[in-house]
Amino acid sequence: MAAEKVCAASELSQDTAKRVIVGGIPIALVLDSAGEIHAIGDTCTHGDISLAEGFVEDDTLECWAHGSKFELTTGKPLTLPAFEPVPVFIVEVIDGEIFIDPTVTKEI
Ligand code: FES
Repeated sequence: MAAEKVCAASELSQDTAKRVIVGGIPIALVLDSAGEIHAIGDTCTHGDISLAEGFVEDDTLECWAHGSKFELTTGKPLTLPAFEPVPVFIVEVIDGEIFIDPTVTKEI
């Protein structure tokens, strides 16, 4: 599968997460305070909760349900109760549009 156009980069607000569905896979997009765009699996590995409904804090996205913080660059939970990572996707920005191939995750 080729990378799909997801949305315009201008639709993201700094330090908030946006849930998108790409190729049937829920993904949380986060524009961090350094201006970098991250794409991680949107479903918490502890429960069926959308991480995009949680909170961006430094370089993590925190699940609102029980507080696990997932690192934006690796998808790893830094705090319990979640202990399995979420996938991390490669983000390409072309002419201001975000493209993601949901079948390719970053090797961490
Ligand atoms: S459902 Fe996310 S930490 Fe429990």
